[in-house]
Amino acid sequence: MIPYFALDREFEALRDPIMARVEEVFESGRLLQGPWISDFERELAGLAGRKHVVVVNSCTDALYFAFAALGIGPGDEVMVPDFSFAATASSVLRTRAVPVYADIGDDYELDLDHAATLVSDRTKALVYVDLYGRMGDAAALERFAAEHGLLLVEDAAQTLGGVRDGRSAGSAGVVSCFSFDPTKVVSAPGSGGALLTDDDEVAETVRTLSHHGKSSAGTFDRVGQNAQMSSIVAAVLSVKLAYEEQWLRARQRVAAAYGDALASRAAVVPERPVDREHVFHKYVVRVPQRDAVRAALEQRGVATLVHYSTTLSALPFAAAAPKRGGGERAARFADEVLSLPIHAHLRDDEIERVCAALAETLPPA
Ligand SMILES: Cc1ncc(COP(=O)(O)O)c(C=O)c1O
Repeated sequence: MIPYFALDREFEALRDPIMARVEEVFESGRLLQGPWISDFERELAGLAGRKHVVVVNSCTDALYFAFAALGIGPGDEVMVPDFSFAATASSVLRTRAVPVYADIGDDYELDLDHAATLVSDRTKALVYVDLYGRMGDAAALERFAAEHGLLLVEDAAQTLGGVRDGRSAGSAGVVSCFSFDPTKVVSAPGSGGALLTDDDEVAETVRTLSHHGKSSAGTFDRVGQNAQMSSIVAAVLSVKLAYEEQWLRARQRVAAAYGDALASRAAVVPERPVDREHVFHKYVVRVPQRDAVRAALEQRGVATLVHYSTTLSALPFAAAAPKRGGGERAARFADEVLSLPIHAHLRDDEIERVCAALAETLPPA
């Protein structure tokens, strides 16, 4: 079976530098708050061009801390796209604000026309997601947010390394968040996330909230959490971050091969990216009879996944909570999307086998 993920191959390629760094951390005894934390924060700040980076134990917590620091709570609404990973919505619900679900376009970007019809006096923030690794239009989203008086939050969980129109992933709006969970382009040995902002107060509040409520003055001022990133996670992430460019090019090569194989097939494929507009965290096609196509590919030895089979507003936890909006296109896409294997360690013979299986499985356009 051609695997969907291959972290074992990645580890084989990086065993020596990773293990050297892990030993360094153990030998220091500074398993929390070691210098690797601030080093990695500096590297991310440079990549995204942001003043502050606070690394935490997950993007889910980074999003929640962002909303908390922005003062979002009961009585407020937060607009989110209706098609994303569950955490985009659950982090809003944790603040007891009401999620408002906007539709997405054919390119998976937030549908701003639909969003405009949903804004109310209570809507305080807008979250957008660079879905699958494809960069959103930061300038258009910032304009929309300013026009409607909304705080803009970028859920860049899937887009580390992306650049569109000169804007880097992690640079849009008041706050951006990255994820380093094991499925991501640059992944942690476990869980990891980061919050990026240019706002001094937001950065200080998030540092406090994620570290037992302890302020930089050393006093326990707020009810916080313990959501620190471990030194080992930061150290390993720094090693891997150096490979981001190389891995991006490898993923783009896989994407180009799939694009060629699917050019005359009955499938909606991602646009060919201009440089770093798409980092291909996922390569997602839309096909009719998705589940049958998936089964046929599996029979031919190709592992696939579905991101996502349910809209956010229809997830049980969200459906049971107060909400507004909902996306028609998002609901259709939930039945059609199919994620093909893509990572930097996919071998040429495997790429060819996936392309051949796609040609055998999908009818001509
Ligand atoms: C779009 C999106 N937002 C948020 C998250 C949450 O990230 P984490 O797993 O680091 O909490 C993910 C992770 O898969 C994601 O894809």
